[in-house]
Amino acid sequence: MNCIIKKNILSEGKTKKIYTTNNSLEVLIHHKDCITALNGLKKNFLQDKGVLNNEITTLIFNFLNSCGIKTHFIRKINNREQLCHKVDMIPLEFVIRNIVAGSMSKRLGIKEGINLYNPIFEIFYKNDKLKDPLINDHHAVFLKILSYEELNTIYGITLKINHIIKKYFSDKNIILVDFKIEFGKNHKNEILLSDEISPDTCRFWDKKTMKKLDKDSFRMGLKEEVFDIYMEILKRLNVS
Ligand code: TMP
Repeated sequence: MNCIIKKNILSEGKTKKIYTTNNSLEVLIHHKDCITALNGLKKNFLQDKGVLNNEITTLIFNFLNSCGIKTHFIRKINNREQLCHKVDMIPLEFVIRNIVAGSMSKRLGIKEGINLYNPIFEIFYKNDKLKDPLINDHHAVFLKILSYEELNTIYGITLKINHIIKKYFSDKNIILVDFKIEFGKNHKNEILLSDEISPDTCRFWDKKTMKKLDKDSFRMGLKEEVFDIYMEILKRLNVS
């Protein structure tokens, strides 16, 4: 295995820092001990949360890689960092909903908890100034973010990912209510699943008690419980 040299900071987001490495096609992603909600309006330091998210994301991306999904993830380097293929991020958040919750419940005035027999896709335009508005395919094409063909490719990959991880979590007594994923393009213009999948980016409910096992606990002000909840997710993922 080649030696990885961490070089310059490429970008810093709310919960991660990206570094260049001695290989121009690879980056190092560092998970910070930071938890945010409401587009960064609510923000807290949470000791070792970066360690948990790095480990949880590693387990899920390793599993997706083994199922043939093309992702940016190469391997975990240490407890806070992972090596990934360098991509240009597509400025869209893809949300997949299996059960009505969160903003869909509020926007449409529908009670949380209703099963969606076909998953519902939403796309949000990543733009801090505009507060990441909900857009549709036509807007994304008009904004020259993606072509219709690329959007269809991503929806196809997204359906597969939903199918794979819904079962993966269900086997661990976790209901995957909804989740957000992001994609990037590598130097060959291939679309790769990128970013992370963790309790920061998913709604998880316990199968038996329906307890919320994700960042909603932080959104609801239960800061003391958040670490234990993320730890519980990691514990369940580590049981095969
Ligand atoms: P929402 O119901 O607030 O729109 O969220 C849907 C899912 O997307 C939920 O699992 C949380 C995730 N999500 C993020 O990961 N980042 C975000 O910025 C937003 C708005 C949602």
